[in-house]
Amino acid sequence: MEKEELLYEGKAKKLFKTDQVGVLWVEYLDQATALNGAKKDVVQGKGELNNQITSLIFEALKAEEIPSHFIEKISKTEQLVKSVEIIPLEVVVRNRAAGSFSKRLDIPEGKALPFPIVEFYYKEDRLDDPFINDDHVLALEIATEEEITVIKELARKVNQALIKLFQKAAITLIDFKIEVGRTPAGEILLADEISPDTCRLWDTATDSHLDKDIYRRDLGDLVPVYQEVLARLSK
Ligand code: C5P
Repeated sequence: MEKEELLYEGKAKKLFKTDQVGVLWVEYLDQATALNGAKKDVVQGKGELNNQITSLIFEALKAEEIPSHFIEKISKTEQLVKSVEIIPLEVVVRNRAAGSFSKRLDIPEGKALPFPIVEFYYKEDRLDDPFINDDHVLALEIATEEEITVIKELARKVNQALIKLFQKAAITLIDFKIEVGRTPAGEILLADEISPDTCRLWDTATDSHLDKDIYRRDLGDLVPVYQEVLARLSK
């Protein structure tokens, strides 16, 4: 497989074409960003950690028969994925209150929710990814009604699989964000990454942060924390 031209450079990843139709080459970068890119730093070793963690998680989800874009990890910082049309939604699942949910509704961080809440944010940097509902998704023609149902089911299934996976690592899954894509055949696949950049992970024993809130909230060095997550998931 040959890596070809750069298709897209995101905040933490580069996406390349390959010589194989339908297969893309992803490179994870040593970059951390927050506040929609307003805070940005080089973090040596982060690309490698996120590639390893996300690959391990997507392998575990494959074993649970969750359809995703992931093909294989090909180096410390690179993986191959199926090319999909990304649906411009950030799909967030919350098991406990935290982050923007706590702020918006004045509910203390850590409060357990009666059931996992699925939320949609319109993925549009220009608008700061606004919170939207199912009617907005339909009216803006982001996805069809059938797709919304499939996406929500997928999000809940991913949540159950992740809760189980992290529980074994003595980590509580507070919330997370996924992205989904459409194949040319119209199938909805889990896409992008699942890592401490996209999940809130709390140490079950101490409630300490094992995720990007370390960086967002200036709580210390992110690398040893991500190393800890990888080490626990690899046991
Ligand atoms: O900030 P908020 O509380 O809405 O974030 C919910 C979850 O979605 C968190 O786990 C956060 O890491 C993730 N998220 C993300 N990318 C964004 C916004 C949120 O991965 N752009």
